[in-house]
Amino acid sequence: MSAHSTPSHPASAHQDWIARDLGALWHPCTQMKTHETFPPIPIARGQGSWLYDFDGRRYLDAIGSWWVNLFGHANPLINERIKTQLDTLEHVMLAGFTHQPVIELSEQLIARTPHGLTRVFYADNGSSGIEVALKMSFHFWQNQGQRGKTRFIALANSYHGETLGALGVGDIPIFTHTYAPLIQPAFIAPAPDCQQAAAGESCAAVTARALAGMRALLEQVAAETCAVIVEPLVQCAAGMKMHEPAYLTGLRALCDEFAVHLIADEIAVGFGRTGTLFACEQADITPDILCLSKGITGGYLPLSAVLSTEAIYQAFYVDAPARRAFLHSHSYTGNPLACTAALASLAIFDTHDVLARNRARMSQIDEWLAPFRAHPNLSRVRRSGMIVAMDLTDAHGQPYPRAEQRGQRAYRFALDHEVLLRPLGDTLYWMPPYTLNDAEWALLVQVTRAAVDAATAD
Ligand SMILES: Cc1ncc(COP(=O)(O)O)c(C=O)c1O
Repeated sequence: MSAHSTPSHPASAHQDWIARDLGALWHPCTQMKTHETFPPIPIARGQGSWLYDFDGRRYLDAIGSWWVNLFGHANPLINERIKTQLDTLEHVMLAGFTHQPVIELSEQLIARTPHGLTRVFYADNGSSGIEVALKMSFHFWQNQGQRGKTRFIALANSYHGETLGALGVGDIPIFTHTYAPLIQPAFIAPAPDCQQAAAGESCAAVTARALAGMRALLEQVAAETCAVIVEPLVQCAAGMKMHEPAYLTGLRALCDEFAVHLIADEIAVGFGRTGTLFACEQADITPDILCLSKGITGGYLPLSAVLSTEAIYQAFYVDAPARRAFLHSHSYTGNPLACTAALASLAIFDTHDVLARNRARMSQIDEWLAPFRAHPNLSRVRRSGMIVAMDLTDAHGQPYPRAEQRGQRAYRFALDHEVLLRPLGDTLYWMPPYTLNDAEWALLVQVTRAAVDAATAD
């Protein structure tokens, strides 16, 4: 667990990059003043599961660099294909033009996602993909003459990104509160979070309760609702809140019954994170619209894909004025380099039998979690596929006061011991690349355990 120390750059280079950063940058999701005492870490390079700074220190990327990285940094298979594509075609606009990587990727996504999704629209990050999905659903109903459908239903604790439309279907106050005057808020339905079960209540009962709440809401507002949007199986940004596939099956049925679309936001959970390639598979459902991003390029380049059913596509396909066409565009829509990274990443799923290997890893993870489950300062130790989460609690199982920033203590401890954890509040989680070897998993388990002890020591 000792810090790796073979400096490849003089320490002054490290300090110099920090000074230059603080002189020029405004970082995401950051109160910049905190960098006065805890500056950003300049990363010199990445290799496999590791990030290396300019001080000769390294960090195991246990959160896949904000949930994007699937196959490690500087993956030779992805690098090679991007390099070849770079010398062939770096970019062309996708209006009026097309190219091989985007065609091949579209065919592959249609083949690999749940049956019935037949069209792929592209944007260039997760939030933009959500904007596409919301506009597409709304515009579909307009084209159908259902002009009263202008609203959306989201679940309590939802997170779908931070552009204004995406914030409208979000329910995490820290992101939405300040911008409330700019946002058209969604109707909020109860979350099916199994961890919130009352004493003696089963997860199935929580699921049933959440579905009953959704039904009650739909009975009131379905006529004005375009779609229900959901993060299938794991509400990640809310603190890795997990629910049963049965909730999704029930939700699909309710959306059909009340004639509203179901939008599945698999931006975080797609591409194997929950164990199956897509989380919806576990409920055996096809959403009307499926949003993908993050892991789609293996963590290399910004890209999002929004898949729709043929019924939605056909509502726009008419000999009629342009306003019946779906009007949405980004300059880098379907960028060839990003599509190539996505194709390379999908190829790795096949050639390396990734889902089967992950399944084997999951059984091991369950064994490693046993001591965490017994730890007096941890509650709700949980796993969905390759996502593991646990909440820091005091000795009585109660959450710590927010001001104590226990999660932040764990973060700093882990960084000092070569692991990048970055908890969500007091929720520690693992969402690492699928390439961690036995030694790297052992380090992750060991350091997380020590970080929990350090963060809860007094
Ligand atoms: C479920 C979900 N949807 C949408 C987004 C937004 O994606 P992006 O950060 O690429 O805008 C995120 C990001 O964390 C997410 O977790």
